[in-house]
Amino acid sequence: MSELNYQDGTVLENRDHAIFIEANFKTDDLDAIKDAIGDFNARLRSYKTRFGHMGLSAVLAFGRDAWTKLSGDAESAEELHDLQTMAKGMVQGTQRDMFVHILSYEHKMNFTLAQDFVSCFKDLVTIEEEVHGFRWLEARDLSGFVDGTENPKGLQDRADVAIIPEGKDAGGSYVIAQRWVHDIDKFNTFDLAKQEGTFGRTKHDDIEMADEDKPIGAHTERVVIEKDGEELEIVRQSLPYGYASSEKGLYFVGYCAKLSSIDAMLKNMCGENDEHFDLMFGYTKAVTGSYLYVPSMDQLDNL
Ligand code: HEM
Repeated sequence: MSELNYQDGTVLENRDHAIFIEANFKTDDLDAIKDAIGDFNARLRSYKTRFGHMGLSAVLAFGRDAWTKLSGDAESAEELHDLQTMAKGMVQGTQRDMFVHILSYEHKMNFTLAQDFVSCFKDLVTIEEEVHGFRWLEARDLSGFVDGTENPKGLQDRADVAIIPEGKDAGGSYVIAQRWVHDIDKFNTFDLAKQEGTFGRTKHDDIEMADEDKPIGAHTERVVIEKDGEELEIVRQSLPYGYASSEKGLYFVGYCAKLSSIDAMLKNMCGENDEHFDLMFGYTKAVTGSYLYVPSMDQLDNL
């Protein structure tokens, strides 16, 4: 896997802070956008060298139309399609042209690079969302449940799951980016059994419930899918975000070499296969959502 030249932020682990930016192109000047991508990556390289201890990285990803225009190759990212609204509007498809995932151990470092993004892409994109995520206590979602336990661990395993291994897109990846808004007050009215049934795990100790004890619609019952005898896997890099006194939730990011794996999980959550919905919809909904392609470093350099 080491010969693959991928954007390393795709697979990095346990950064405590992230900034997520969703943007749409507002110019047809593709050369200017390509220049901005080059400038942004040059600044990222410089910060990585100067502030290595901050574990900084960033991932740039593009929606279907945007990537076809930029790459000039309609056959690259063959699985890519726009994310559609599902689950009676509880999961919104608000497909964007571009997604930026900035991550490091320090918010001040992320903020610096995010400001650079804004200045490099000034006049070229409209920023639709800018979300500042943080790792909460014990890596818990704001519902109080630990998030990330069954994620692939270690760079090699994560790259095996997230990075396209061969072919014209070798080193690329697919990503889902969604902003979920939680109604925590409502979740806190559920008794412990109902809360634990929502995820199919215990709250305090973070232990998976036996399959026969999980209600239909438990989140882990929805997203654990076997295909050809193997469990589908994605690399999740979600973080909580928001204000103590107002809107808050989870910014969900999942990378995978196969968009079909991400899509199968989301469709199962949305009752597309059996009309059973994810019980998480009892307290949360996705107000934005895009599927995007993460080009390899070689593809970015070739732009
Ligand atoms: C508000 C949104 C979401 C929340 C709060 C959430 C929370 C959680 C929690 C608490 C777990 C159990 C612990 C763990 O293994 O990480 C989990 C597992 C998981 N989630 Fe989510 N999740 C969300 C959205 C999604 C979406 C949109 C997908 C896929 C498209 C997804 C895929 C998964 C997968 C694959 C697992 C691991 C299941 C296992 O192997 O047991 N999640 N999630």
